[in-house]
Amino acid sequence: MRLAIACDHAALSYKERLRDLLRGAGHQVTDCGTDSTASCDYPDFAQAACRLVQSGECDRAVLICGTGIGMSIAANKMTGIRCALVHSVETARLAAAHNRAQALAMGARVIELATAWSCVQTWLAEPFEERHQRRLDKIAALEQH
Ligand code: RB5
Repeated sequence: MRLAIACDHAALSYKERLRDLLRGAGHQVTDCGTDSTASCDYPDFAQAACRLVQSGECDRAVLICGTGIGMSIAANKMTGIRCALVHSVETARLAAAHNRAQALAMGARVIELATAWSCVQTWLAEPFEERHQRRLDKIAALEQH
């Protein structure tokens, strides 16, 4: 899969580890930064990664900040992006199965790296359940308001 990954300063090493694991698993990963521990603004990096999803250059985006909250709020402001903030394998599974989330947000200060990796793997593997499409159409309609 073609993936974008991004983080802020609170999650740099976390992102680098996930990026390397994803590449090791055979995914094509575009690293959208940040690339240092200097304080930065997570909306800039959420935007960089989600733009690639919007344009079709990437299939999905993985977003990591301290809590995952800021990244998810920013990503969900972008047209067509459904970003799920997850903290467990089950929420990651449902983000794919029920919400067809193309962006996954996680908090480096909230969950262990091993859990985050399990979340990402589950989210990538889980198929969408078409019976939920009606709700996604209603979410898309909310973008007009
Ligand atoms: C940065 O200190 C922190 O606010 C950020 O990583 C994130 O947790 C925001 O939601």
